Amino acid sequence: MVIISPSILSADFANLQRDIESVVKAGADWLHIDVMDGHFVPNITIGVPVTASIKKISPVPLDVHLMIENPQKYVKPFADAGADIITFHYEAVSNPKEVIDLIKSFGIKAGMSIKPDTSADVVFPFINDLDLVLVMTVEPGFGGQKFIEKCADKIPVIKEKAPEDLIIQVDGGINAQTARICTSYGANSLVAGNYIYKSDNIKSAIESLR
Ligand code: DX5
Ligand code: ZN
Repeated sequence: MVIISPSILSADFANLQRDIESVVKAGADWLHIDVMDGHFVPNITIGVPVTASIKKISPVPLDVHLMIENPQKYVKPFADAGADIITFHYEAVSNPKEVIDLIKSFGIKAGMSIKPDTSADVVFPFINDLDLVLVMTVEPGFGGQKFIEKCADKIPVIKEKAPEDLIIQVDGGINAQTARICTSYGANSLVAGNYIYKSDNIKSAIESLR
């Protein structure tokens, strides 16, 4: 079973409810919310108030990807806004274990993400504490970029040491072809923005990823 988490970064923000309903109706398991602060990445996107509004209309879990500095400062606000999964970046913190414990203290799932140039090894000390590991296959910051194939090599490395129930998620440049590479390597959750939202048939796009 592969968890499909459409990234609403590729939605039309003026029609966010419509674009959330369309992916939910088409079988999305989660909604991926890309939070960017203009510091950790060179782009600014969605924050706490929008997340809280999405929570009111979403029947599926909110998968919040924090691409921000000092993520520990925003764990409580996003948890209060209704995040079901909070994923922070390894590169943005000095004590990952503290952030993982903080996220879990709200009774939600804790994820940690690594950028393309970060080694898979950094995950190992935390692999039994995490609910999810997010392998970035593009430089975080923008949707619609090309899949960096060598990043996918980290998936089997993580999978080999992962507990049975660890969610290994991949984000960036996912389409039907790159999804197959990732799932064959052991990924069990895929984020996709452009591939889903720019397709003529959202349902078949989501099905093609599974
Ligand atoms: C990139 C974001 C991704 C992005 C995915 O910084 O974390 O979630 O929106 O978009 P696509 O699938 O278009 O690469
Ligand atoms: Zn993301």
